[in-house]
Amino acid sequence: ALEQTLRPQRLAEYIGQERVKTNLQILIEAARQRHEPLDHILLYGPPGLGKTTLATIVANEMGVNIKVTAGPAIERQGDLAAILTNLRQGDILFIDEIHRLSRAVEEILYPAMEDFVLDLIIGKGPSARNVRLKLPRFTVVGATTRLALLSSPLRDRFGVVQRLDFYDLPAMVQIVQRSARILGVQIDAEGAEEIARRARGTPRIANRLLKRVRDYAQVRADGVITRQVAQDALALLEIDELGLDDIDRRVLLTIIEKFDGGPVGLETIAAAISEESDTIMDVYEPYLLQLGFLERTPRGRVVTRRAYEHLGIPFNRDERGEG
Ligand code: ADE
Repeated sequence: ALEQTLRPQRLAEYIGQERVKTNLQILIEAARQRHEPLDHILLYGPPGLGKTTLATIVANEMGVNIKVTAGPAIERQGDLAAILTNLRQGDILFIDEIHRLSRAVEEILYPAMEDFVLDLIIGKGPSARNVRLKLPRFTVVGATTRLALLSSPLRDRFGVVQRLDFYDLPAMVQIVQRSARILGVQIDAEGAEEIARRARGTPRIANRLLKRVRDYAQVRADGVITRQVAQDALALLEIDELGLDDIDRRVLLTIIEKFDGGPVGLETIAAAISEESDTIMDVYEPYLLQLGFLERTPRGRVVTRRAYEHLGIPFNRDERGEG
């Protein structure tokens, strides 16, 4: 329940992502004035930036219900049919990880999104027949970390496509301060900045770090989160000054130590550190790319000079590469 209250419920409470917020505000206001349901909305970007939160906010602002599901959870056509036939006019269907819908499920989603009909085949063999059910006008809010994996017919059915980016530092500081207020923990400006700086531009990470620093402040200090308390707590969690954790460092160090800084393929890196390649690509790479610590080249991933400097490893790129 507390987790839920950390999420803003209204657009006015939502910090950052100004371009997305403005676009959604216009969309919502126009639809409300016309008394129409919203067009379908696709949100994409790295995990933890607020795609689910925004879907909930859109539902709240429109005064409609939201049904939350995810691509992998909708296994068969019947699963989607059951969801769609339970929606009411204007309701929002939030589909997280929408790039993971099966082809068969996508096929019945297209006419549902476009014409608000459900085409089903009832029965098997010679007695099988087609039925077409009318659906209420509903709105799909789709979310994905991988826009490129969406089939183009699916992509084409979204009237609104918005990218979420990592939050800048001032927005992160505000988010930490807001969450601290809700959690009832004392934090000073420097303490908030320290957590904000190390949260990789990602509110979900900021809220997680805030809770761990709060624990530390309570048990090892006087309950107040200052810069020193935040630094000590985060050092114990092996979160460095830029917010890199153990896995980020293993990705970079593996490329440097085992593959001479790269280029090396994603699958090879994944195997070397025993992580899923999808997790590395979705969760770890975006921030390393944003920091300019990693580059994607046609021949694979390359660690940059900046990353060597951050890790305190001498960079000798010009002297190598012959072998
Ligand atoms: N908590 C998580 N994300 C947030 C955001 N964008 N604004 C306010 N609080 C948040």
